[in-house]
Amino acid sequence: MGQEPLQTSIVKKYCDARLPWYTIYPTVPEFSAAVGAKDCEKWLGGLPADDSVSLYLHIPFCRSICWYCGFPTTITRRDAPILNYVSVLREEIRLVAEQAPQALPVSDVHFGGGTPTLIEPAEFLALMELLRRRFAFRKTATIAVEIDPRAFTVEMAEALEAAGVNRASLGVQSFDPIVQKAINRVQSEAQTAAAVENLRQHGISRINFDLIFGLPNQTVQSCVESATTAVAMRPDRFAVFGYAHVPSYMKRQRLIDEAALPDKRCPRRTGRGRGRYAGRRRLPPNRARPFRLAGRRTRAGAESRSPAA
Ligand SMILES: C[S@@+](CC[C@H](N)C(=O)[O-])C[C@H]1O[C@@H](n2cnc3c(N)ncnc32)[C@H](O)[C@@H]1O
Ligand code: SF4
Repeated sequence: MGQEPLQTSIVKKYCDARLPWYTIYPTVPEFSAAVGAKDCEKWLGGLPADDSVSLYLHIPFCRSICWYCGFPTTITRRDAPILNYVSVLREEIRLVAEQAPQALPVSDVHFGGGTPTLIEPAEFLALMELLRRRFAFRKTATIAVEIDPRAFTVEMAEALEAAGVNRASLGVQSFDPIVQKAINRVQSEAQTAAAVENLRQHGISRINFDLIFGLPNQTVQSCVESATTAVAMRPDRFAVFGYAHVPSYMKRQRLIDEAALPDKRCPRRTGRGRGRYAGRRRLPPNRARPFRLAGRRTRAGAESRSPAA
């Protein structure tokens, strides 16, 4: 596994805390029109030349929308909008690199989304080449990519390997077909397993699975079974999110049947489901207590990393 053991003291300290979404800087409550290009320029210019930086590249496109998703992303069936976006991103990379005092050392790169692996393989390779030209990559740099297993090809795995990607994060959420239907994300175990195999065959063995609890129609048993199936695929890491339900902010979440959310005291799923996930106990309401997230009330229970605004 090669990971540091989870420290109980840290878990105890933060498990009930209301924390900001740490992928965003400045964090949402601090974000305002007062933060502009000049500030960025000043911050970039003031970076110590020897300290490593982490680069985050957001690719806001998907082939279909998952109703729970709290990330800024757009559906596109065509490649043209992605290509246009990548050319703007290349320009942004150039601007950022020019404002830094010198080629900044890079310890981490993260391609998030959306679905970064929708970028054409050759375009992805060219993007990584540009980053390597503009920044000074550490030999040990972690280069990570978020992957939707439903849209992951052998050609893309080849490109990731050639680009030096050494870590992958796969969206799984739940293996329960009833939950999958309720969130508009139908993804078979075979699709997830094939993506894992594809990555391993291309030398990418540091694999994370994203799972979510608190989704519509989800039960404790359903969560346990999803986790068991996921563990059998032997990823080396899990990111487990409490579902952040903010329909007032994320319009797509209005498609979620709120009566089916586990913190609503609605009838058990008995009789509606089929097979091994049917009719199990719901998550106890206190697992989905409200907490303040980015100034809004949500019903999510816990976050280790949360959707960006
Ligand atoms: C950008 S997506 C992952 C990559 C890829 N687009 C996919 O879905 O497979 C990032 C992750 O954020 C989590 N996520 C998205 N919306 C969420 C929400 N409303 N509450 C909690 N977690 C959420 C999901 O676990 C998702 O896999
Ligand atoms: S969870 Fe992933 S695939 Fe689904 S809409 Fe969000 S970013 Fe796109």
